[in-house]
Amino acid sequence: MLEALTAPPPDKILSLMDLFRADTRPERIDLGVGVYRDAQGLTPILDVVRRAEARLDAAATTKAYVGPAGDPRFVELVRDLAFGSDAPVDRLRGIQTTGGAGALRLLAGLIARARPGATVHLPDPTWVNHAALLADAGLKLSRYRYYDPATGGVALENMLEDIAAMASGDVIMLHGCCHNPTGADPSREDWQKIADAIAEREIFAFIDLAYQGFGDGLEADAWATRLLIRTLPQLVVAYSCSKNFGIYRDRAGAAFILARTPAEADIARAQLTVQSRIAYSMPPDHGAALVRDILADPASAALWRADVEAMRNRIASTRAALAAALVSLGHPGLRGLGAQKGMFSLLPLTPAQVARMRETFGIYMVDDGRINLAGLQISQIPVLKRALEAIL
Ligand code: LMR
Repeated sequence: MLEALTAPPPDKILSLMDLFRADTRPERIDLGVGVYRDAQGLTPILDVVRRAEARLDAAATTKAYVGPAGDPRFVELVRDLAFGSDAPVDRLRGIQTTGGAGALRLLAGLIARARPGATVHLPDPTWVNHAALLADAGLKLSRYRYYDPATGGVALENMLEDIAAMASGDVIMLHGCCHNPTGADPSREDWQKIADAIAEREIFAFIDLAYQGFGDGLEADAWATRLLIRTLPQLVVAYSCSKNFGIYRDRAGAAFILARTPAEADIARAQLTVQSRIAYSMPPDHGAALVRDILADPASAALWRADVEAMRNRIASTRAALAAALVSLGHPGLRGLGAQKGMFSLLPLTPAQVARMRETFGIYMVDDGRINLAGLQISQIPVLKRALEAIL
């Protein structure tokens, strides 16, 4: 049996954590895995989360099962956070999942059940795990042109051309905000054109919303998703609480469905719940309970919103400082850096150059050149600049 297995290639992002841990050089810099770090280089537990943990611990009376759909109150609170108070809640349903990746995988399973072998069009490039988890659900994969390395922005005309060539009933994966790995987000005007093109071709939108609050703010980062909800008759959204609550390892997320009618929404939710039961029976409670506790209490929610804003500001000011520092390199591939959003950007490096950055300078990034700006300290910018000067 097991002898039939071959060794899988290492995960392009997570394998960096082990490499970095094994590196003993004091000056090494971790721009790999997408976790927020503060000005001290730490990924802190937010105070508001610690306080919620203490409250939950004091009030806990049981660890009995919650159920495959998780806690409905958590789902309702995240729904309002993501989709706003005027969302069409009669046709929207959701369940709690094990983080954003769990939501993606369950929704992929739901799509495969609704339309076996459906084609999902992924942006080129996209988060490395998208392709693997969609293919694992039995879906076919295709790519649409998304990123324009010449400008560091979205290749809108190419993207619209590719959408026009998609077949009705195909699925398009969209990053709701803070595109991973490029940081290139469509403008509001672009989103309007994208939403109209998707509606016209009757394509099914699959939105990955993992970084709400890290781009332009909590409300602004939900704008595109809310537009798509208003424009399209049906779609799905995978939501992650990992980054904006800083609860990565607790695995809290949600999967949402917008259906054409309330009755179809109920059936889709029931099928999604079956996906959860099959995959892992039910999601872990702790992270979702923290999110519920915080969002349900206006004072805690206000503190949390301020925390998200502080994280966002640190990332934005690091981005601005890096972009300003790298201007003198004059490299066209760095032009878009300052205008990109969220934690990530692509440096114009080949995998061999990325390996040299790591081996020679102790600077770690994904082999496509993706850097996590939240991993960078302002004091490290000259080091990164010198290394890029040497490598480019
Ligand atoms: C990332 O893109 O670095 C994060 O989403 C972590 C992960 O699971 O890959």
